[in-house]
Amino acid sequence: MTCTVKIGSLALKHNVFLAPMAGITNLPFRLLMREFGCALAFTEMVSANGLIRKGAKTGNYLDSTAEDKPLGVQIFGADPVILAEAAGIVAANGADLLDINMGCPVKKVIKTGAGAALMRSPENAASILKAVRKATSLPLTIKIRSGWNHREVTALDIARIAEENGVDAIVLHPRSAEQGFRGSADWNLIKTLREKIRIPVIGSGDVRHPEDAVRMLEVTGCDGVMVGRGALGNPWIFRDVVSYLKEGTLCSPPALSEREKIIQRHMGMELEYAGGHHGLRNFRKHLLWYTKGLRGGNIFRKVVGTTDNSDIMLKLVHDFFHSVNDGSLKIRT
Ligand SMILES: Cc1cc2nc3c(=O)[nH]c(=O)nc-3n(C[C@H](O)[C@H](O)[C@H](O)COP(=O)(O)O)c2cc1C
Repeated sequence: MTCTVKIGSLALKHNVFLAPMAGITNLPFRLLMREFGCALAFTEMVSANGLIRKGAKTGNYLDSTAEDKPLGVQIFGADPVILAEAAGIVAANGADLLDINMGCPVKKVIKTGAGAALMRSPENAASILKAVRKATSLPLTIKIRSGWNHREVTALDIARIAEENGVDAIVLHPRSAEQGFRGSADWNLIKTLREKIRIPVIGSGDVRHPEDAVRMLEVTGCDGVMVGRGALGNPWIFRDVVSYLKEGTLCSPPALSEREKIIQRHMGMELEYAGGHHGLRNFRKHLLWYTKGLRGGNIFRKVVGTTDNSDIMLKLVHDFFHSVNDGSLKIRT
């Protein structure tokens, strides 16, 4: 059931993508997910204001390499002129696709009129999309929520505005801004958008297992699926989803030795990218996710939380994985 999908001029090898996640989808994380088969990966949301001021930290968000392709860069902001200028910077930096964030519910963001605040400001959303569309020929997407709250469900209105203004695809995470991550994603809304909108619709929300991806595609008719939290500590999800969609086969969970190998690799990539101190700090949370559900993992996580030394951390990982023989270590799903 995987199929190639085109977003504007960008042809993708299949329709399983990595969701943008702040604090997570940096260069090493994206590269690792690509090795496991994700067809399109996004940066985390980047401030358009920051890009224009060329803050060093903002610059890092755009770090990429030749292997990090195709790359979607997500920007956020509320001012059409600034977003248009930022779009130019993103294009000049070699992105393959530009996404405008219209779904972030974080207070700091919405109080500026950006992110999910745009779900209740259709006029500004239209002005932004007009200005950005004029500024760049990059494939352009928006990532939206269902609306502000359950009384203001505006996804379809915003999607129509997007379509009228030359946006090439819509990504919908069908929870409201007020809902945050509570409850479940309302896939019916993805179906509604798919039925009413001509451009591709990508569903985001609650794809944790290969069967979820199939169900989302079947139930909603959407053109592609995004995986977010399901990829934390689990890059195998891309291999699993693609294999299930293409061949209908469910892969076995990774062996412990494979799990350890990927932890070492991911950590190495983080250290190389961000340097020892920052790399280790970035990686620590991943280690918690990689060992979640493993018997004895809680004790391991306490111990590993006390070290700031990468060699010691690797030794602890090695000892942890080797202290448990394959039969006794169970992964809870
Ligand atoms: C830690 C975290 C950070 C996120 N950051 C972003 C972001 O920067 N931009 C965005 O559009 N969505 C962001 N999201 C939302 C995800 O892209 C996705 O739509 C949402 O998590 C639902 O999908 P999931 O159930 O597969 O995780 C974030 C989600 C999480 C959990």
